[in-house]
Amino acid sequence: MELIEIDGVDAAQFARFHALRDDVRRHDQEFPVGLGLTECQVLFARQDADLRVEGLAVVDGDTWLGMAWLDWWLQENTHIVEVEIAVHPAHRRRGAGTFLLKAATARAKAAGRTVLSTTILGDYETGDSAGTAFAAARGFSRKHTEYHQVFELPMAAERLDELEARIAGQHDEYRLVQWREHTPDEWIEQFADALSVMGEEVPMGELDREPMRWTPERIRQAEERRLEQGRFCHTTAAIAPDGTLAAYTQMGGAAGNPERLYQWDTLVRPEHRGRRLGMGVKIPNLRSLQAELDHPAVLHTWNAVENGPMIAVNKYLGFRPVAQRTNWQQTL
Ligand SMILES: CC(C)(COP(=O)(O)OP(=O)(O)OC[C@H]1O[C@@H](n2cnc3c(N)ncnc32)[C@H](O)[C@@H]1OP(=O)(O)O)[C@@H](O)C(=O)NCCC(=O)NCCS
Repeated sequence: MELIEIDGVDAAQFARFHALRDDVRRHDQEFPVGLGLTECQVLFARQDADLRVEGLAVVDGDTWLGMAWLDWWLQENTHIVEVEIAVHPAHRRRGAGTFLLKAATARAKAAGRTVLSTTILGDYETGDSAGTAFAAARGFSRKHTEYHQVFELPMAAERLDELEARIAGQHDEYRLVQWREHTPDEWIEQFADALSVMGEEVPMGELDREPMRWTPERIRQAEERRLEQGRFCHTTAAIAPDGTLAAYTQMGGAAGNPERLYQWDTLVRPEHRGRRLGMGVKIPNLRSLQAELDHPAVLHTWNAVENGPMIAVNKYLGFRPVAQRTNWQQTL
């Protein structure tokens, strides 16, 4: 077995790396998710202040056995390397996964990082998979569990009307603001703060991970990266009478993967809870997303198993759990 470093410059090599990753996901997951080719390539090409990515492949002659993707966070979590390892189904249980893990561990240690972190998909009820068996056998401990939930779009207009009718009158004093790829200057300071609060509020189990600290500059950098990746994003925020950005939600996807859409963050600031603002921002945002949808798609979302309120809101909207996503870590 031999290791290849993926530089992101050699287009044919990168396409092979990406295809291997996508093939594994399609093989192992009923509802596969993941970045498209361009989305990945852009991450390799950019020199961002907050993230550096690295790719490795393990080959046997002309045959590619598996790949590893390493995320190096550069502002927070500078003690952690996030690693994803995937081995082609035809080449498993021959040590390729272990080979890649050893290479990732050596790189992390050489850079002075002390924690290796990984995210693994498994069975909806037990969370188990080849990935979790591998992680347990190779020194990782399970730290956090989320449900991967999906629902098929488009949602019928009558259903959206019905959901909206049920929350009518519960937060009339708030007004809604919507935007697309660029956060309006008027809201960017408050939005940066809300994104940072989101990082602190979202349950993370026993996971060793610092929340991201957002600034207007970091939002602009993320927006620029998103556009370059061919991604799009719909945001709906609720503004309280005193001008506070009290709640927001974001949904979107990428032009290269039109059948995969995502429900990203939803935050209702603690002091504004209990007024159905979660649904209050999600329903109009879904309307905005659907207005441009001319094909069937699957909307994906993830919630910590202990995040009962958000799971309840999502179930009410029509999401159903299809898998567990677990986070594992080991100290190096
Ligand atoms: C997890 C994965 C990377 C393992 O790759 P691999 O090349 O088969 O792994 P290895 O051959 O190095 O296995 C090392 C050990 O892990 C354990 N293991 C791996 N797959 C297992 C399985 N399906 N069932 C039980 N134990 C397993 C075993 O202890 C194995 O040692 P053994 O074969 O001597 O018994 C591969 O199954 C995969 O790509 N799965 C989908 C992606 C994924 O879940 N990645 C997360 C990994 S962090």
